[in-house]
Amino acid sequence: MNTAQFIPSALNFSIEKATYTWQTPSNIALIKYWGKSKPQIPKNASISFTLNNCHTITSIDFSKKSNTSEIIFELFFEGEKKEAFKPKIAQFFDRIKEYCPYIFEYDMVIDSMNSFPHSSGIASSASGLSAIAMCLMSLEKELNPNLTEKFIHQKASFLARLGSGSASRSIEGPLVVWGEHPAIEGSSDLFGVKFPYAIHPIFENYQDAILLVDKGEKQVSSTVGHNLMHMHPYADQRFIQANENLSKISEILQRGDIDAFINIVESEALTLHAMMLTSNPYFILMKPNTLEIIHKIWKFREETGSKICFTLDAGANVHVLYPEQEKENINNFIVKMLSNYCQKKQYIFDNSGFGAKKL
Ligand code: DP6
Repeated sequence: MNTAQFIPSALNFSIEKATYTWQTPSNIALIKYWGKSKPQIPKNASISFTLNNCHTITSIDFSKKSNTSEIIFELFFEGEKKEAFKPKIAQFFDRIKEYCPYIFEYDMVIDSMNSFPHSSGIASSASGLSAIAMCLMSLEKELNPNLTEKFIHQKASFLARLGSGSASRSIEGPLVVWGEHPAIEGSSDLFGVKFPYAIHPIFENYQDAILLVDKGEKQVSSTVGHNLMHMHPYADQRFIQANENLSKISEILQRGDIDAFINIVESEALTLHAMMLTSNPYFILMKPNTLEIIHKIWKFREETGSKICFTLDAGANVHVLYPEQEKENINNFIVKMLSNYCQKKQYIFDNSGFGAKKL
């Protein structure tokens, strides 16, 4: 694997001060990443829809410093200093320092905010780390103006991955594959790539309503969950299945076979949670209302012929997925029926989007 391509050579440190602001989105996986080896290499390839409304906005102020032996940064979240978030970012900087030696040259003040409520159960690591990665790449581009846009996206995804695997899929959109896979040209374990084939119009501007079932802290973090796949009795079979499902969904997205899409996406969600149920120690992240919602979705589909379906991430919230043409009907169903199973009736209407934006 060619990681040397991401170690910069010709940098010109003539810049004294700079500030960059990026808005980067969250994403929702259709084929799930669950299981990895070091350093942040996925056990199978995954694919996600990039979201549009759920995003992080991050600014980094860089000021040249004289002592270049340590990495120094301050962290603000929604305007307030946040010491609690610092260790995760410090670990991220430590993992990327070889690829971004310039982080030793500048004091960094990071200021972040999310468009979604804090501790809504929506993972902010994907949007948060991809936003930092884009700010770093803006600085790198200024230190080396020869960088191409393609390289910047690739390296930003590569860096974001080292912070959180799913963050590698939050740079571009509307569909991103991460993990080397024979059916996806250009795919890599090191960074996410935009799905390289034309998709059927039914999957354009796909809708994702996020139902906030449980906003509490997760009892088991993704990191612990990924680790439990090392000793897992079904792990090897699961990794094979995920890669097979990725081949299938690639065809499905191009052909527009929405029934086959529903079947794979729901099966992937339930399989992810089945891996948690069959880990040791075992754990359950779904809540009673997660199941209520799933049953209501199935009933609605059966009664109306709608193409509504669901997926889950590593938590109790439900992502309801549907084509744009059904937006009015399904939004109504969510407001009138499914919201009753959400904490404080909260949900977020979102749709597939195009990735990082410079502000
Ligand atoms: C269930 O990307 O949060 O959302 O690499 O340890 O940060 P780390 O894990 P993370 O795992 C995401 C798991 C998932 C599935 C997915 O997004 O593919």
